[in-house]
Amino acid sequence: MQVEESNMIGGVELKALIVYDSKFGNTEKIARAIGEAITPLAEVKVVKAGEANASELTSIDFLIVGSPTHAGGATRAIKEFLKRIPANAFENVRVTSFDTRFSAKDKGIGTRIVLGIFRYAAGRIANILEYKGGSLAVEPEGFIVEDSEGPLKKGELERAATWAKGIVENKRQSSI
Ligand SMILES: Cc1cc2nc3c(=O)[nH]c(=O)nc-3n(C[C@H](O)[C@H](O)[C@H](O)COP(=O)(O)O)c2cc1C
Repeated sequence: MQVEESNMIGGVELKALIVYDSKFGNTEKIARAIGEAITPLAEVKVVKAGEANASELTSIDFLIVGSPTHAGGATRAIKEFLKRIPANAFENVRVTSFDTRFSAKDKGIGTRIVLGIFRYAAGRIANILEYKGGSLAVEPEGFIVEDSEGPLKKGELERAATWAKGIVENKRQSSI
């Protein structure tokens, strides 16, 4: 069917905004892999938190927010970006989030306990996006780094691309 080949729904082009933060570059790589994966399906903009301004949040169909996990949560730049979003800003916007993180199973017992207590950034970000009126497109996801500065675990960029396609496909299916 023709609609499945285009990035239009009802003659309107889908718009996706990806906002990320990254200290060592790993989360940025995931953000860009997500952007590339959905580019055939939507018009995509990838912006670093702090450089994203309020006007970019208007007339988007999807908002995807990604952060490194720092002490179980998002970075300060992502928290500030989220804080600046007005209440109910995301009516009719599909939202989701991702983080980069350690894998508990690769770590010793001490770190596993700490990771279990602090948890991760993505779920917290998604909760805030939903609180601001967004509807969850797909469950938030974490992508694994082997150490604080990376690298990403093998296969994570491909896994991010697959996850990202699901974000847009879900909307297209519900609109067809
Ligand atoms: C200050 C700091 C705190 C961190 N805390 C956590 C944590 O609580 N849980 C976790 O899984 N990873 C933690 N990490 C590792 C980050 O997940 C890792 O540095 C990040 O995924 C790398 O992403 P980036 O290259 O985009 O900065 C921490 C890293 C730093 C620098």
